[in-house]
Amino acid sequence: MTETTSSIPHTIGIIMDGNRRWAKEQGLPTIEGHRKGAETLQACTRWAYEMGVKTLIVYAFSTENWQRSEEEVTGIMDLVAFFSEYIADTAIKEGVRIQFIGKRDMLPEKTLQKIETLEQVTAIGMTITLVVALSYGGRLEIVEAARSLSESDRAELTEESFARKLWTAGISDPDFIIRTGGQKRLSNFLLWQSAYSELFFTPTYWPAFTRDEFARMVTEYGERVQNGGK
Ligand code: FPP
Repeated sequence: MTETTSSIPHTIGIIMDGNRRWAKEQGLPTIEGHRKGAETLQACTRWAYEMGVKTLIVYAFSTENWQRSEEEVTGIMDLVAFFSEYIADTAIKEGVRIQFIGKRDMLPEKTLQKIETLEQVTAIGMTITLVVALSYGGRLEIVEAARSLSESDRAELTEESFARKLWTAGISDPDFIIRTGGQKRLSNFLLWQSAYSELFFTPTYWPAFTRDEFARMVTEYGERVQNGGK
């Protein structure tokens, strides 16, 4: 008999794709897809916490996304600012710690201020950590880490010491990564950190993602790990 061990993933990454297609299908404006996506994210953080997951890293806005229409970019940045304030009390009450990774100097002042406040007020959260990748690109993260190396860093460089220069310093690598919305690629998400991640793809649009589907993936992850798939 194989020993039954619990294989709950410690860290899950999510590429939240399909917001616009969901909105279009519903006959709603694009921003409604993002708004519903933000609600799904809030719900998913709770599902993850209830299942024993410790860290969730989500791709909210890529460096490529800056090229979308000004209206959409402004809409998403306003939504992030609004949501950061809206969820603060609940996050504090539920012990959720929220952190952001990405190129902050490109963010509008208001968004930057709201996300930094959210990070500060949730910093002692211990139940689950939600890491939001915002203005994030995996290649840019690696280039910025390389640029930040000092002479002595370079002299003693190891995989571990380099990882400490990334935006994700102190955050575990994802045990598995989910991409919703049907595409099967990483699109510049956590390039360094995904070296050993199990990958899951689903055609479900992010706003329509459910607890059931999430739970099935967590179960399948456990089976893959127990079958030595790692
Ligand atoms: C991808 O779908 C989604 C985005 C680019 C934005 C995701 C943003 C949120 C879920 C809001 C996050 C809010 C907070 C508070 C962190 P898409 O727009 O690429 O949709 P498509 O694949 O159908 O075109």
